[in-house]
Amino acid sequence: MRTVFDELLSSVKSFLAGFGEPAARSFAAGVDWSMPVRKLAPHGLPCVVHLDRAAAIAGEEGTPLAGLLRDHAGGLHWGQTYTSADFGQKFIDNYGWLEVFGTRGHFASDTVAGGFLVLGPGIEYPDHHHMAEELYIPLTGATEWRMDDQPWRRRAAGEVIHHASNVSHAMRTGDEPLLAFYLWRGGPLAARSTVTGMAGQA
Ligand SMILES: [Fe+2]
Repeated sequence: MRTVFDELLSSVKSFLAGFGEPAARSFAAGVDWSMPVRKLAPHGLPCVVHLDRAAAIAGEEGTPLAGLLRDHAGGLHWGQTYTSADFGQKFIDNYGWLEVFGTRGHFASDTVAGGFLVLGPGIEYPDHHHMAEELYIPLTGATEWRMDDQPWRRRAAGEVIHHASNVSHAMRTGDEPLLAFYLWRGGPLAARSTVTGMAGQA
Protein backbone atom coordinates (compact mmCIF):
# COMPACT_ATOMS: atom_id res chain seq x y z
CA MET A 1 0.00 0.00 0.00
CA ARG A 2 1.25 3.43 -0.88
CA THR A 3 1.80 5.46 2.27
CA VAL A 4 2.12 9.18 2.86
CA PHE A 5 5.85 8.57 3.23
CA ASP A 6 6.01 7.05 -0.26
CA GLU A 7 4.08 10.03 -1.55
CA LEU A 8 6.47 12.40 0.20
CA LEU A 9 9.53 10.66 -1.26
CA SER A 10 8.15 10.60 -4.79
CA SER A 11 7.13 14.26 -4.49
CA VAL A 12 10.66 15.13 -3.39
CA LYS A 13 12.04 13.21 -6.37
CA SER A 14 9.75 15.07 -8.79
CA PHE A 15 10.53 18.40 -7.16
CA LEU A 16 14.27 17.86 -7.41
CA ALA A 17 14.04 16.66 -11.00
CA GLY A 18 12.67 20.09 -11.90
CA PHE A 19 16.01 21.78 -11.24
CA GLY A 20 18.68 21.70 -13.93
CA GLU A 21 21.45 23.43 -12.00
CA PRO A 22 24.62 21.30 -11.93
CA ALA A 23 24.67 21.09 -8.13
CA ALA A 24 21.02 20.00 -7.98
CA ARG A 25 21.57 17.38 -10.68
CA SER A 26 24.70 16.12 -8.97
CA PHE A 27 22.98 15.75 -5.61
CA ALA A 28 19.91 14.11 -7.19
CA ALA A 29 22.11 11.60 -9.02
CA GLY A 30 23.48 10.44 -5.68
CA VAL A 31 20.09 9.54 -4.22
CA ASP A 32 18.96 5.91 -4.35
CA TRP A 33 15.21 6.42 -4.56
CA SER A 34 14.51 2.79 -3.59
CA MET A 35 15.98 3.27 -0.12
CA PRO A 36 14.31 1.28 2.67
CA VAL A 37 11.61 2.64 4.95
CA ARG A 38 12.52 3.42 8.54
CA LYS A 39 9.59 3.16 10.95
CA LEU A 40 9.37 6.35 12.98
CA ALA A 41 6.68 7.34 15.44
CA PRO A 42 5.06 10.71 14.74
CA HIS A 43 6.75 13.54 16.61
CA GLY A 44 5.24 17.01 16.52
CA LEU A 45 6.82 20.41 17.09
CA PRO A 46 5.35 23.90 17.54
CA CYS A 47 6.90 25.10 14.26
CA VAL A 48 4.46 23.05 12.17
CA VAL A 49 1.83 25.76 12.69
CA HIS A 50 3.77 27.76 10.06
CA LEU A 51 3.09 25.18 7.35
CA ASP A 52 -0.34 26.68 6.62
CA ARG A 53 1.16 30.01 5.70
CA ALA A 54 4.16 28.41 4.00
CA ALA A 55 1.85 26.40 1.73
CA ALA A 56 -0.12 29.56 0.93
CA ILE A 57 2.95 31.52 -0.18
CA ALA A 58 5.01 28.69 -1.70
CA GLY A 59 6.29 29.09 -5.23
CA GLU A 60 4.66 27.09 -8.00
CA GLU A 61 7.23 24.28 -7.97
CA GLY A 62 7.01 23.89 -4.20
CA THR A 63 3.25 24.08 -3.74
CA PRO A 64 2.53 20.31 -3.94
CA LEU A 65 5.20 19.50 -1.38
CA ALA A 66 4.24 22.32 0.95
CA GLY A 67 0.60 21.16 0.83
CA LEU A 68 1.60 17.58 1.53
CA LEU A 69 3.63 18.63 4.57
CA ARG A 70 0.80 20.84 5.82
CA ASP A 71 -1.80 18.11 5.43
CA HIS A 72 0.24 15.32 7.00
CA ALA A 73 2.42 17.17 9.51
CA GLY A 74 0.86 15.29 12.43
CA GLY A 75 1.99 11.92 11.11
CA LEU A 76 5.61 12.92 10.53
CA HIS A 77 8.65 12.81 12.76
CA TRP A 78 9.84 16.39 13.22
CA GLY A 79 13.18 17.04 14.86
CA GLN A 80 15.47 19.69 16.26
CA THR A 81 19.23 19.76 16.62
CA TYR A 82 19.36 22.69 19.03
CA THR A 83 17.85 23.46 22.41
CA SER A 84 16.68 26.70 23.99
CA ALA A 85 20.17 27.00 25.53
CA ASP A 86 21.58 27.61 22.04
CA PHE A 87 19.43 30.37 20.55
CA GLY A 88 16.64 30.96 23.07
CA GLN A 89 13.06 29.71 23.48
CA LYS A 90 11.62 31.81 20.65
CA PHE A 91 13.93 30.08 18.20
CA ILE A 92 13.05 26.62 19.51
CA ASP A 93 9.32 27.37 19.26
CA ASN A 94 9.72 28.41 15.62
CA TYR A 95 12.30 25.99 14.26
CA GLY A 96 12.33 22.37 13.21
CA TRP A 97 13.20 19.97 10.44
CA LEU A 98 11.75 16.90 8.87
CA GLU A 99 14.26 14.38 7.56
CA VAL A 100 12.67 12.51 4.67
CA PHE A 101 15.76 10.36 4.10
CA GLY A 102 19.11 9.99 5.80
CA THR A 103 20.57 8.42 8.90
CA ARG A 104 17.51 9.30 11.02
CA GLY A 105 14.70 10.04 8.53
CA HIS A 106 11.62 8.22 7.26
CA PHE A 107 13.81 6.46 4.68
CA ALA A 108 17.27 5.12 5.43
CA SER A 109 20.37 6.40 3.63
CA ASP A 110 23.95 6.57 4.84
CA THR A 111 25.20 8.65 1.93
CA VAL A 112 22.78 11.53 1.51
CA ALA A 113 20.21 13.21 3.72
CA GLY A 114 17.24 15.24 2.51
CA GLY A 115 14.37 16.98 4.18
CA PHE A 116 12.73 20.25 5.08
CA LEU A 117 13.56 23.12 7.37
CA VAL A 118 10.87 25.32 8.90
CA LEU A 119 11.53 28.73 10.45
CA GLY A 120 8.74 30.96 11.69
CA PRO A 121 8.64 34.71 10.99
CA GLY A 122 11.14 36.97 12.73
CA ILE A 123 13.75 34.28 13.35
CA GLU A 124 17.48 34.37 12.74
CA TYR A 125 19.38 31.12 12.36
CA PRO A 126 22.85 32.44 13.17
CA ASP A 127 26.07 31.71 11.28
CA HIS A 128 26.89 28.03 11.37
CA HIS A 129 28.81 25.49 9.33
CA HIS A 130 29.23 21.74 8.97
CA MET A 131 31.43 19.31 7.15
CA ALA A 132 28.65 18.04 4.89
CA GLU A 133 28.12 19.80 1.56
CA GLU A 134 24.62 21.24 1.45
CA LEU A 135 22.02 22.25 -1.08
CA TYR A 136 19.01 24.34 -0.14
CA ILE A 137 16.00 25.08 -2.31
CA PRO A 138 13.55 27.38 -0.51
CA LEU A 139 9.88 26.64 -1.22
CA THR A 140 8.97 30.08 0.13
CA GLY A 141 10.67 33.37 -0.72
CA ALA A 142 11.22 36.47 1.38
CA THR A 143 13.93 35.01 3.63
CA GLU A 144 17.39 36.55 3.68
CA TRP A 145 20.35 34.22 3.38
CA ARG A 146 24.04 34.87 3.99
CA MET A 147 27.07 32.84 3.06
CA ASP A 148 30.64 33.36 4.25
CA ASP A 149 31.34 37.08 4.62
CA GLN A 150 28.97 38.10 1.83
CA PRO A 151 26.06 40.47 2.48
CA TRP A 152 22.55 39.20 3.26
CA ARG A 153 20.58 38.33 0.11
CA ARG A 154 16.87 37.87 -0.20
CA ARG A 155 16.28 34.56 -1.99
CA ALA A 156 13.23 33.72 -4.07
CA ALA A 157 11.35 30.44 -3.90
CA GLY A 158 13.01 27.93 -6.22
CA GLU A 159 16.53 29.35 -6.04
CA VAL A 160 19.24 26.74 -5.65
CA ILE A 161 21.61 27.66 -2.81
CA HIS A 162 24.80 25.66 -2.52
CA HIS A 163 26.97 25.61 0.60
CA ALA A 164 30.35 23.95 0.16
CA SER A 165 31.79 21.92 3.02
CA ASN A 166 32.42 24.02 6.13
CA VAL A 167 31.31 27.32 4.57
CA SER A 168 29.57 29.52 7.11
CA HIS A 169 25.93 30.39 6.40
CA ALA A 170 22.93 31.97 8.11
CA MET A 171 19.27 32.71 7.42
CA ARG A 172 16.81 35.25 8.78
CA THR A 173 13.10 35.46 8.13
CA GLY A 174 11.03 38.63 8.00
CA ASP A 175 7.26 38.73 8.12
CA GLU A 176 6.83 35.33 6.49
CA PRO A 177 7.93 31.84 7.49
CA LEU A 178 10.57 29.85 5.64
CA LEU A 179 10.01 26.36 4.31
CA ALA A 180 13.10 25.04 2.56
CA PHE A 181 14.17 21.72 1.10
CA TYR A 182 17.70 20.65 1.98
CA LEU A 183 20.17 17.98 0.95
CA TRP A 184 23.37 16.98 2.77
CA ARG A 185 26.15 14.74 1.54
CA GLY A 186 29.81 14.02 2.16
CA GLY A 187 29.95 14.46 5.90
CA PRO A 188 28.45 13.06 9.05
CA LEU A 189 24.77 13.33 8.08
CA ALA A 190 23.40 13.85 11.58
CA ALA A 191 26.15 16.15 12.81
CA ARG A 192 25.30 19.17 14.85
CA SER A 193 26.45 22.34 13.09
CA THR A 194 29.24 24.41 14.53
CA VAL A 195 27.75 27.77 15.45
CA THR A 196 29.83 30.91 15.19
CA GLY A 197 27.11 33.58 15.02
CA MET A 198 25.16 35.18 17.82
CA ALA A 199 21.44 34.66 18.31
CA GLY A 200 19.57 37.42 16.56
CA GLN A 201 16.72 37.80 19.02
CA ALA A 202 16.53 38.84 22.62
FE1 LIG B 1 23.58 24.19 6.74
